[in-house]
Amino acid sequence: MSLIVAVDGPGGAGKSTVSRRLAERLGIAHLDTGAFYRAATVAVLETGADPEDERAVLRAIEGRHIDQADGRTLLDDRDVSRQIRSDEVTGAVSAVSAHPELRRRLVEAQRRWVERAGNRAVVEGRDIGTVVFPDADLKVFLDADPAVRAARRSGEIGSTVTEVAAALDRRDRLDSTRATSPLRPADDAIVIDTTHLTIDQVVERIASFL
Ligand code: DC
Repeated sequence: MSLIVAVDGPGGAGKSTVSRRLAERLGIAHLDTGAFYRAATVAVLETGADPEDERAVLRAIEGRHIDQADGRTLLDDRDVSRQIRSDEVTGAVSAVSAHPELRRRLVEAQRRWVERAGNRAVVEGRDIGTVVFPDADLKVFLDADPAVRAARRSGEIGSTVTEVAAALDRRDRLDSTRATSPLRPADDAIVIDTTHLTIDQVVERIASFL
């Protein structure tokens, strides 16, 4: 039987850790769709294309294969798991992911990935409950106080909280105001504010709805 759990929300809300733990607990696959947009951004930057120019972006990813296997992100079978977390990629990914045709292609790849996983997966991103899997069995939207999100991210990547707060704020604004698939909770999503919750508490709360 299929089981798709959509986990959406802004950066630093706890999506990745929570989704990974939840998938482990349920014994199903975990797909990080942000990693697809980041891998596309690696391809764009490597070819010197302008991230704002949709045609150049589409040319840069033409014929490239983006995938995820065993928690690693692949660009044409090359492991780019570390590269996709670089400041350069983080700075350009919102521009790249705003292009509708690029999104259409990556959404298709994400749906195929989940199909290959037997339609049993925890899928995290920005538009999973609204666009990628509007019929998901459960939709969760994780949010948290911006200062707490920045502190969590800075702990993960080692930059100062002030730098991370500015970068997150910029990315949130771009991701929430873009014309195609902006970041927003689906009407039927459970919204969880993770500001004062531990990872385990968030996982528990989600599991209680299943
Ligand atoms: O979750 P993340 O920080 O790795 O996501 C990186 C960027 O990718 C984010 O700023 C917006 C974009 N993204 C998206 O547009 N749609 C998704 N489903 C996932 C991520």
